[in-house]
Amino acid sequence: MFKLPDGMTPEHGISANCAAAQSWMGLLRGGVGPGERVVVQGAGGLGLYAVAAAKRMGAGLVVAVDAMADRLAAATALGADATVDVTEIGDAAARVERVRELTGGGADVVLEVAGAPGVVDEGVRMLARGGRYIEMGQITRGSDVFHVPALALLMRNISLVGVALYDPQILRDVVGMLGDLRTDPVITRLGSGHRYALDDIDAAFADAVSNRSAERPVLDLAQGGPA
Ligand SMILES: NC(=O)c1ccc[n+]([C@@H]2O[C@H](COP(=O)([O-])OP(=O)(O)OC[C@H]3O[C@@H](n4cnc5c(N)ncnc54)[C@H](O)[C@@H]3O)[C@@H](O)[C@H]2O)c1
Repeated sequence: MFKLPDGMTPEHGISANCAAAQSWMGLLRGGVGPGERVVVQGAGGLGLYAVAAAKRMGAGLVVAVDAMADRLAAATALGADATVDVTEIGDAAARVERVRELTGGGADVVLEVAGAPGVVDEGVRMLARGGRYIEMGQITRGSDVFHVPALALLMRNISLVGVALYDPQILRDVVGMLGDLRTDPVITRLGSGHRYALDDIDAAFADAVSNRSAERPVLDLAQGGPA
């Protein structure tokens, strides 16, 4: 158990579990070092925290890739140095080229938290020699097979690392990060989505699926629900 820092609300503390801690674990497993170039594929529930965590770990350049403008704007506000909008650069090869340009020859770490199998191929191609590809998104049974470009993997000495389940002590570091960021307008916004009573849980899930913004719906167990 870890005590939330003074001034951190439960809505913001809840993201420490899974979203922020899992991202932190992925970056640790990727060995992100000071000054390194990090690409985050998917600026969603996990990816936005990954951007903040990478900067806190000393990454020199962080690039966020997503298809939603609002999330990319949130990534920038959390410290991303550059963004790639999939709706603007629709071709995977062009996205790889753009990232290799932004990073001056490729990233040291690419963290996959988009969850679409197709992103793995382009993500591996975004890496520089000695790069580490951190695979976290393909966790859904049935869509857990992906294509890896073998020549890029071999010729650039790339490591492919799978990550799930974070170590308990990671929560301490992540709670610290969220505590320091508790007044950050973006972090505050992420935990300030529409509030739903327990009776409205179906609507909360439906809205979460269709939501095109960065903030998450909040299920308030103190409101409504069975007597
Ligand atoms: N390994 C683990 O322990 C672990 C833990 C939690 C979640 N996950 C998985 O991680 C993934 C991300 O979870 P989340 O909650 O952040 O999901 P999310 O839906 O909030 O975020 C995914 C983001 O990826 C973006 N995206 C979609 N296609 C893309 C593309 N081609 N290129 C770049 N971005 C693209 C979406 O616009 C979205 O913003 C999911 O697949 C989830 O199942 C893994």
